[in-house]
Amino acid sequence: MKFSRKLAAATCLAAMTISATAARAGDVEVLHWWTSGGEAAALNVLKKDLEGQGIGWQDMPVAGGGGTQAMTVLRARVTAGNAPTAVQMLGFDITDWAKQGALANLNDVAAEEGWDGVVPEALQKFSKYEGQWVAAPVNVHSTNWVWANKGILDDLGIAQPTTWDELVAAMQKVKDSGKVAVAHGGQAWQDATIFDAVVMATGGPDFYKSTFIDLDTEALGSDTMKEAFDRMSVIRSFVDDNFSGRDWNLASAMVINDEAAFQFMGDWAKGEFLNAGKTPGEDFLCFRFPGTQEQVTFNSDQFALFKQGDKPSAEQAALAKAIMSPSFQSAFNVVKGSVPARVDVPDTDFDACGKQGMKDLAAASSSGNLFGSMAHGHANPASVKNAMYDVITAHFNGEYDSETAVSELVSAVELAQ
Ligand code: BGC
Repeated sequence: MKFSRKLAAATCLAAMTISATAARAGDVEVLHWWTSGGEAAALNVLKKDLEGQGIGWQDMPVAGGGGTQAMTVLRARVTAGNAPTAVQMLGFDITDWAKQGALANLNDVAAEEGWDGVVPEALQKFSKYEGQWVAAPVNVHSTNWVWANKGILDDLGIAQPTTWDELVAAMQKVKDSGKVAVAHGGQAWQDATIFDAVVMATGGPDFYKSTFIDLDTEALGSDTMKEAFDRMSVIRSFVDDNFSGRDWNLASAMVINDEAAFQFMGDWAKGEFLNAGKTPGEDFLCFRFPGTQEQVTFNSDQFALFKQGDKPSAEQAALAKAIMSPSFQSAFNVVKGSVPARVDVPDTDFDACGKQGMKDLAAASSSGNLFGSMAHGHANPASVKNAMYDVITAHFNGEYDSETAVSELVSAVELAQ
């Protein structure tokens, strides 16, 4: 039995390169990048839910916020003919794998569970490929948030900033007090996460769309883009000396532990505050990056299931169904910091930030102010995103001045397409 399996594996190697090797019968093997304290707590909600249905969990965590490393490991696994059964994925990465025919078709579960009627259009754009369901969305995150230490702001008499100028004045006041103004981790995806908000605030929604989504050369090379880079330099002047390479959750910890006043980060940061026993409105504040109060730059974690045969396996179907159940979407997102990926989940169990997140999402969606996050793979494909990352990070680290960054951005984006 063992031998014939090996033989079959050897002879079918070519065909198997993009199909999942079966995890232990009854198990799912899940590749993900949820390794921080808050993320692990949320993941546990999913593990427990599946265990309750008799489905075992083989964990395949790949540390590294934003999933860049996880996607590298995934490519290696697939090339070795050993794809995991289920993979956490973002936006355009799902489309890329679906294009290669690697993902299981989830139409049966989707029809049975009525996904078409409850998953917002903006997410379906990524959950479906050529009209077929290829991923189950577990949440909606957004990147244009500020996480603030309420005690520090109160002590210094700083009101919640609503404009860029107010934010700069607030950061200056914190710096003058001897505390760290901005808790940041110098990693490309974190620099890019701030850039999402800064570009939106500097140029507004039309500018965000023409630069990050339409990749319009003129907009990318404009004076407005130079101003966005100038603002990044201002933020750079408010981070501490040890920011380089710091993980995002350690930056959150600086705000949690009263060392720093602000973190500009997606709402997964809230998971860290909750995990540390902190309460929104009392210990910390959540608000939209000044100048982006009407907009939401979103990303959605979805689970794509690698093909094991003509149909998803029973475990894969059960995983997809579990992820999309309304009670799970509430329980999971309350812990994760994100909001549900279905429109019919009540906000009852969510804290003030979660309730605001749900309200903002609905409002942005109906007013045409909902845009995919560039930093988190929902504005353009990985090749373009990574090209943008390189320029943003080189500029943040002082390798380019703003003018050079603008022209590098234009040529990097052109080359990457
Ligand atoms: C994911 C989040 C995750 C964050 C930090 C984002 O790309 O969507 O779920 O918590 O990266 O790792």
